[in-house]
Amino acid sequence: MTKNLQEAPPKDAKGVDQTKRFFISDTHFGHKNVLKYDHATRPFSSIEEHDETIIRLWNETVPAQGNSIVYHLGDFAHNKSVFSSIVPRLNGTIVWIRGNHDDETWKLRHMVSSAHEAKYIRCANKQRMYLSHYPMRSWRGSYVGAIHLHGHCHGALESIPWGKSMDVSANVIGLRPISEEQVIERLKDRPFVDHHQIFNPFST
Ligand SMILES: [Fe+2]
Repeated sequence: MTKNLQEAPPKDAKGVDQTKRFFISDTHFGHKNVLKYDHATRPFSSIEEHDETIIRLWNETVPAQGNSIVYHLGDFAHNKSVFSSIVPRLNGTIVWIRGNHDDETWKLRHMVSSAHEAKYIRCANKQRMYLSHYPMRSWRGSYVGAIHLHGHCHGALESIPWGKSMDVSANVIGLRPISEEQVIERLKDRPFVDHHQIFNPFST
């Protein structure tokens, strides 16, 4: 089964992109150990309860109808069985960025709209974003305000803000996808990262 292969952005009469974009990473569906690693932010007594909660919050957040894209930044599910049972239950067109726990499930990437090692996108208001599983210190467009979203760290780096970058691991963003508007608002006052003059967050 393949979900929503259309990724071309729909436009209104004035040519404005009407797509709603959302981001999430590190859902780790079916992966019991995340309940130990992230016990404070994934307070569930079973992995089934964890998974069903994320599915419910995802579908409450992402409209079932219309043009929504959810960028999943990796560490999707523990195995192919879990992946294939959960993906058809999730709202929106899914674009998947590969994480370090996605080797086995990567064989099922035909089930989502598209799959990438990393991806550079433009949102409706021309905001540029560089998406990868792993956090970077400098990324495409960082010196002109491009946002970098990543996962992998499950919040471990969020106490050290780094320019317009943000960890969107599920347990960092309330276990539900975060919208492009929320991301832009959250990072609007952060400085650009100019690769000619990398700042040192430890110097202050
Ligand atoms: Fe992870």
